[in-house]
Amino acid sequence: MRMYDLIAKKQAGFELSKEEINYFIEGYTKGTIPDYQVSALLMAIYFKKMNERETADLTMAMVNSGDVLDLSMIEGVKVDKHSTGGVGDTTTLVLTPMVAALGIPVAKMSGRGLGHTGGTIDKLETFKGFSVEMSKEKFIEDVNNIKIAVVGQTADLVPADKKLYALRDVTSTVENISLIASSIMSKKIASGADAIVLDVKVGDGAFMKSYEDAKNLGEAMVSIGDNVGRRTIAVISDMDQPLGLAVGNALEVKEAIETLKGNGPKDLFELCLTLGSNMVMLANESLTEAKAREMLLETITSGAAIAKLKEFIAAQGGDVSCIDDINLLPKAQHIIEVKSDKEGYVSKIHAQEIGVVAMKLGAGRETKESVIDLAVGVVLNKKRNDYVEVGDTLAYIHANSLELGSKLKEELASCYEISKEYEEKIPLIYDIIK
Ligand code: URA
Ligand code: CA
Repeated sequence: MRMYDLIAKKQAGFELSKEEINYFIEGYTKGTIPDYQVSALLMAIYFKKMNERETADLTMAMVNSGDVLDLSMIEGVKVDKHSTGGVGDTTTLVLTPMVAALGIPVAKMSGRGLGHTGGTIDKLETFKGFSVEMSKEKFIEDVNNIKIAVVGQTADLVPADKKLYALRDVTSTVENISLIASSIMSKKIASGADAIVLDVKVGDGAFMKSYEDAKNLGEAMVSIGDNVGRRTIAVISDMDQPLGLAVGNALEVKEAIETLKGNGPKDLFELCLTLGSNMVMLANESLTEAKAREMLLETITSGAAIAKLKEFIAAQGGDVSCIDDINLLPKAQHIIEVKSDKEGYVSKIHAQEIGVVAMKLGAGRETKESVIDLAVGVVLNKKRNDYVEVGDTLAYIHANSLELGSKLKEELASCYEISKEYEEKIPLIYDIIK
């Protein structure tokens, strides 16, 4: 087989066989096929696209390029959840104890990554002493005993994706549905998921800016799942404003604890119930959606979910006293009010820019070496469609430097658009693709 022929074939618009796809992924991972030939093939795929069969074959070729986590020692259906990324997305912290409280195993491998706020691991490290370093044996034992554990990314998962993503990034070939879908799905499958619930975000603060694009991506990932025997559901949800109120690490942990105690923001809780009921239905196919929701709600009213959070944090060495007393969480030295100079309805909150403000305060990483300040971030006081008067507080900046926090006031205020007219509500959940 010659790489030249594969490039020419795709360039002419033909399908690549499974063997051809395996050949190029194996060769690229090993380093026997050079970047320039893979770049050319990526560009041909970008223009001529891949069909569902090719996309599924590409996904499995990528899965097999590295280690695959064997979770067969864990009893039950391992359902994983993945978000395509948003601003202030606290769902994992809320959702996983709820699902685990129902006896459904949550075996999560997480990374840190770059972003406006830290990743799930950074947020969990808000609990003093919490550690994601553990042996595979302890990980499996914890999931079997308490139904939930989060481990750091140690295995060499999907090395083909690391190389391909970096190459796509510099060759303007990121934006292809098959390449995005296979990249995301290969990582979930390699980390041991039997079934997957995807939260595909759409809007200003998301990777997918339009509903059409988000729907196409959701459909492509569900189709991969069907083709490779991992049942997959994609929920298309709004990211045209931050989810919940908090954007920042300890601030989101506080929001998650409050939500698990039944006092969380409505949109965050509703999305958790939607994603959660789909996870429950994938784990137990005999349940209806209404029943799954009822069971999840019961984990909140009975206190089972917050008890599960405590059990999980304690099992990984974390201090759980802040769960009973949220005043013990890390706090920023300064809380600065950002006020409205207009009257009217909030018509838009630029989620992406809110994330940037949180990052500038120190909540996220700009480079791999950045050190996160767990205490800082932004807390919204008004959300879309709320009515505000001149002088009303739009949001709060939590800063450890008064100078920096004050400097960002204007930038945060300009994230809000205020209009005289009440605009039509944007739905929280657009669609569920099964
Ligand atoms: N996220 C991923 O993991 N891969 C992509 O290709 C795009 C977004
Ligand atoms: Ca939030």
